[in-house]
Amino acid sequence: MANKTLSQRADELEHEQLAKLIPAKSVIYTSGEEDPTQVNSFQLLRPGEHYLMGHDSRLKKMPDRPTLFDFFRLRFFAADHVLQSARLARSAGHPDKVVLACLLHDIAVMGFIRSDHGYWAAQMIAPYVDEEVAWAVRAHQVLRFFPDPSVGYEYPKAYIQLFGEGFRPEAYVVRAYEKMKSHKWYMTARLITLNDIYAFDPNVKIELGEFEDLVGRYFRQPSDGLGFDDSPSAHMWRTINWPTRAL
Ligand SMILES: [Fe+2]
Ligand SMILES: [Fe+2]
Repeated sequence: MANKTLSQRADELEHEQLAKLIPAKSVIYTSGEEDPTQVNSFQLLRPGEHYLMGHDSRLKKMPDRPTLFDFFRLRFFAADHVLQSARLARSAGHPDKVVLACLLHDIAVMGFIRSDHGYWAAQMIAPYVDEEVAWAVRAHQVLRFFPDPSVGYEYPKAYIQLFGEGFRPEAYVVRAYEKMKSHKWYMTARLITLNDIYAFDPNVKIELGEFEDLVGRYFRQPSDGLGFDDSPSAHMWRTINWPTRAL
């Protein structure tokens, strides 16, 4: 057998190491499909194996200093929904903060966690946007369940299909609504729900570039990149970046 050069051997070693990094699934990824008390996300390592502690090579690689739009392009699904909501709000003549709130309102569903998505998204964006925008994103999830005839907002027919005729929001949701409806920023959140279209058009393709200027002006993009800026929500962005990191 021919002798291998040092660099060939080094390449092989690097490849072996890459092949032996084990991605770990958090319990929440399988909870529901599996009983969470029975999930063991730590599998035993065989000799030469290590847990993955960074980028998961099955995902698209994020830049070292990722921007909001990098997350849109490389981690979020179904951006059409928020892009069309933002365009609708803009064409209705609403202020930039409403357009931005519409653009960001469902990013938790799109890339992180569905349950309580308004609350999660609001925390994700809070360090980077006007307080009113984060408040409205949090409130939209609650306000979606409650009609407001004064602006022509009805309980969504889609919710009857999605959750059934008998679904009623829990007491904590009603309590949140009671507080939100008299809040000074109520209408900002209500405008998200008004522009939150379900029957969005699959044929309309909107490029992120349409909102580049808006995001540039109102989303305080950290120079170290989302996730690496030590903000109170940096860990959430890092988790979306490398969701199978062991710790
Ligand atoms: Fe939503
Ligand atoms: Fe939405």
